[in-house]
Amino acid sequence: MPSPDDDAARRAGAILTIDLGAIAANWRGLHDAGRASGRPVDCAAVLKADAYGTGAAAVGPRLAAEGCRQFFVAHIDEAIALRRVLAEHPIYVLNGLLAGTEGDFVEHNLTPVLNHLGQLNAWRAAAQRFNRPLDAVIHLDTGMNRLGFGPDDAQALINERGRLRGLRLALFMSHLVASEETANPINGEQLSRFRSFVKAMPGAPASLANSSGIFLGPDYHFDLMRPGAALYGINPLPGQANPMLPTVTLQARILQTRRVDALQTVGYGGAWRAARSTRVATIGLGYADGYFRALVNRSVVYIAQQPAPVIGRISMDLVTIDVTDVAEADSQPGAMVEVLGPHLTPDDIAKQAHTNGYEVMTSLGRRYHRVYVEGRDDHADEAEVEDDAAGDAA
Ligand SMILES: Cc1ncc(COP(=O)(O)O)c(C=O)c1O
Repeated sequence: MPSPDDDAARRAGAILTIDLGAIAANWRGLHDAGRASGRPVDCAAVLKADAYGTGAAAVGPRLAAEGCRQFFVAHIDEAIALRRVLAEHPIYVLNGLLAGTEGDFVEHNLTPVLNHLGQLNAWRAAAQRFNRPLDAVIHLDTGMNRLGFGPDDAQALINERGRLRGLRLALFMSHLVASEETANPINGEQLSRFRSFVKAMPGAPASLANSSGIFLGPDYHFDLMRPGAALYGINPLPGQANPMLPTVTLQARILQTRRVDALQTVGYGGAWRAARSTRVATIGLGYADGYFRALVNRSVVYIAQQPAPVIGRISMDLVTIDVTDVAEADSQPGAMVEVLGPHLTPDDIAKQAHTNGYEVMTSLGRRYHRVYVEGRDDHADEAEVEDDAAGDAA
């Protein structure tokens, strides 16, 4: 009896396999790196943008089971959704306290990251209204000039600590501007600004490092590290070997193949013209699924270990590929091709599309059939199952 999941896989234009075991192992590795200095450094997880496209509802509980105790998201609605699957853990909302949402924070037991004095005052007023101390994170801007207490607000806080009365300080945090550039002097400048602030405001844990920041060394770890990207396999050390495990595989289905004579064009605008008689396969994903239009003539997909170039403009729901040099038996309608996987990582695609791995991951399509597995062996099993299904369909 096929399961509903099997049925959904059969109907899917593309299948995204997410390895929760690899995400958990990445978290464990970062967590242990924090412990290397011998200090009790904790490691949170950043789950904003639906856990960088991998699915916060699945990733959150898996990381909690691994031992992760604190979680960050960007929006309060992301936090409310995460609260449904993480009943107890602190969930911090990075984008701050929007006017009128205080009651939502309290109702769902969420903690705002306070980004300026106005938010601090509003949260204190809420603590008075609800007649109980409320948890808060103070975000100090040490150079990003985006969100967080600027120098004047920070000084006002240092001068008058009573401004925090009624609140329980969960954390002081700041965010690094260019942590992936290890030689960039701004890292040290931000570190020293953050240190001065923490020294002037003792009494709460401190957090500075994102993924790449963790690799800047123990000075940057403070009490809590806040990785996002590296959890999901994005390389925190650009230009060096990636220390993280890959976490996603994306396979797309061949919907149709055709022979195109030399000089004929393929796709919208006739933007690609065949230089030879070409076997073209059309696969079931497009820019509406986060397959960037910029990838045209720049990327490949893999079929049975063989690269097949992406040709013709990317359509909303379709991509055309040149399978002339791929065995016909491997490239029949129904077969699955590798769009992301062992041959092509999100960082590789990012380079081709002139973006970064973050954008590739957070653009992963909502229409993909999603399969969660635990561990790389399961990955291989999964691919086998799908290949079999593809064979049947052909
Ligand atoms: C404030 C803050 N902390 C931590 C992170 C996680 O950063 P990364 O994904 O580079 O690890 C982000 C993500 O942009 C962030 O905005």
